[in-house]
Amino acid sequence: MSKRIGYTELEAKVRGMIKEKRFVHSLGVVEVSRMLAERFGLSSDDAAYIGIYHDAYRYQADGTAPAYCRAHGVEVFPEEEKEPMLLHGALAAIHFPQDAEGDVPEYFQTAVRHHTLGHKEMGRYGAILYIADYMEPGRKHLDDDDRRRILSGERLEDMIITIMDMQGEYFRKEGIKSAAVSDELYRFIKDGGTL
Ligand SMILES: [Fe+2]
Ligand SMILES: [Fe+2]
Repeated sequence: MSKRIGYTELEAKVRGMIKEKRFVHSLGVVEVSRMLAERFGLSSDDAAYIGIYHDAYRYQADGTAPAYCRAHGVEVFPEEEKEPMLLHGALAAIHFPQDAEGDVPEYFQTAVRHHTLGHKEMGRYGAILYIADYMEPGRKHLDDDDRRRILSGERLEDMIITIMDMQGEYFRKEGIKSAAVSDELYRFIKDGGTL
């Protein structure tokens, strides 16, 4: 395949695919992703490309998504089967090369695939996206102290644990059960695993 479109073109395309509020969220994700990529010596352009695109299929993941994903070779987790909206990252992963009109590295697709539940194989860019998605400036459930606490982590893995602990607290209050893949990611990092 050919060389993919540039960031600006992808941003314009995504803008037409999602609601304005979600687009503003995506811009916030890009901002935090760039910052984290720079801090950890990764490509901030790659992180931005992934960040702007991650929620492009947020409004298209309906009841048909599980079968569609499986038909495209994407494993569907039980929690996603029950709540297909969670598969918007998987749909984005499947459509990424098409929408980018060219080659997309596999780690771009892996990152968007796992941004919602997290996964021990989501990679460094997946970690950046996961963190940025949770704490971008538009997220009103966090205050400055929470953001500082997350960013005080020395490694991306530490930040993910801080986020999952915060989320766990919220889940307990709301009576929500975390997904098995999320629990697996948590244990993986706690056991010394790196992304
Ligand atoms: Fe998302
Ligand atoms: Fe998002």
